[in-house]
Amino acid sequence: MRWSVGEGQPAKAAGNLLVLPVVEDDKAGQVELAEVLGKKEAGRWRKTLAAAGFKGAAKSWQTLNGAAVAADWILLVGLGPRDRIDLDMVRCAAAVAARQARAMGGKILLVSWPSGHLGGYDQRTLARCWVEGAELALDKVAQVAAGGTRRAKEADAQTPQRGKILVSDRRAVAAARTGVSEGQAFAAGTLLARRLVNLPPNHLTPRLLANEARRLARGADMKCTVLGPARLRELKMGGLLGVSKGSREEPRLIVLEAAPRGGRKLPLIALVGKGVTFDAGGISLKPAAKMDEMKADMAGAAAVLGALATVTQLNMPVRVIGVIPATENLPDGAAIKPADVLLTAAGKTVEVLNTDAEGRLILADALHYACRRKPDFVIDVATLTGSCSLALGGHFAGLMSTSGELIEVLQQAGGETFERVWHLPLIDKHREAMKGSVSDLKNLGGRDAGMSTAAGFLSHFVPENIAWAHLDIAGTAWSRAKGDLGPQGATGFGSRLLARTVQILGA
Ligand code: BES
Ligand code: MN
Ligand code: ZN
Repeated sequence: MRWSVGEGQPAKAAGNLLVLPVVEDDKAGQVELAEVLGKKEAGRWRKTLAAAGFKGAAKSWQTLNGAAVAADWILLVGLGPRDRIDLDMVRCAAAVAARQARAMGGKILLVSWPSGHLGGYDQRTLARCWVEGAELALDKVAQVAAGGTRRAKEADAQTPQRGKILVSDRRAVAAARTGVSEGQAFAAGTLLARRLVNLPPNHLTPRLLANEARRLARGADMKCTVLGPARLRELKMGGLLGVSKGSREEPRLIVLEAAPRGGRKLPLIALVGKGVTFDAGGISLKPAAKMDEMKADMAGAAAVLGALATVTQLNMPVRVIGVIPATENLPDGAAIKPADVLLTAAGKTVEVLNTDAEGRLILADALHYACRRKPDFVIDVATLTGSCSLALGGHFAGLMSTSGELIEVLQQAGGETFERVWHLPLIDKHREAMKGSVSDLKNLGGRDAGMSTAAGFLSHFVPENIAWAHLDIAGTAWSRAKGDLGPQGATGFGSRLLARTVQILGA
């Protein structure tokens, strides 16, 4: 959709649907309608709303036809009770409105939120979340055609074309405009991440993932370097090379760099994303059921690419480097075996006790590579452990970190984007659990606290003086059911969380 901001009276604005978010209470809709129609005219709709049972409950909606407005219809969308309105509710209301507009074939959508405190949020934040919600909700899973991907034509024909946010004064216009740009950039990042994760693994091999990264870099004024097997051997990246041995597809280490001109002194943030384009488990083969979902094992990589898309689109005043180790994890005569010992780029040896614990092996090399650039902050994001999915489910990513500052910022960003994180333990005991007997480290820490010991393993590849956080998104990257803000499948989780985190760290 194309979005704009306008100043003026909502009743006079031309369009198909005038969307009015409504706070839930006994007189729901009256206050909001009165602001647009005047008290008398609003009163005429009281019976209609009562008969329809519309109270402004969260995610409910009601259309009104024939009101004294220039738009064809009024669409009331419920926000729920005033004291429970949060940014997720704003996104959900936008999602309901956008989907309803599509169902009605409405091309032009106008929105005017009630004046006064709406959850206490400013115009910029409200506009940002409204645009995000609408854009994310209109997303449909792309169909894969012979020559690439395409979206269903019929769906495109129905999608609303333009959205306009109506505000009452000049100052609000500027703020809402900023919010609109942000909303579009944040949504675009999530949509990119979703598209990549949803791609079939034969359409997104490590080589093709690198091509996607190059394409993103070209359009966003980023530097992109892709390292192949020869260079990886020079760098002694035995973790990444080891995992890739069972595959006919070559591994890649994808490095993206975003730096505003003249910004040499700006903080440097490294984002490291697990890019296993298909995880069959290797010789420690996974069971067949739901193995197809392991095409989503590059969701960390997708989140990093999505976040970089957002960060560059908004010209955030930070330097960001994205590092993505990309490989398949398959069983084969050449594959690594349980008991093999690999030499990582950091010079530490690792005994492979389970080839399905491959994420940490490739992240070891990627984290080491990222840390050699001496970043101020390192955040890695990975679909790393089944125990994360079991413990936290689909609504929280696991957060493990040694940096109080990063924990705080990620929690704030998670609350605002609703890509929420839950802080879990990471102590020396978890680090020690990963120490090996025939090698420096082993890649299996036992059944207990699997999420924390995985983080403990990674911590051996990050120097202690670098602020580092690890996000386990095994439970949040993929959704088996459709949600408020998107279809079944890839959620794009992490893209907005990381982009917002970068924005906060850069401010
Ligand atoms: N990619 C998986 C983790 C995963 C599980 C992601 C479920 C998404 C949904 C990872 O590579 C893996 O296989 N982890 C193993 C590690 C274990 C062998 C220590 C796991 O969690 O079972
Ligand atoms: Mn695995
Ligand atoms: Zn994996």
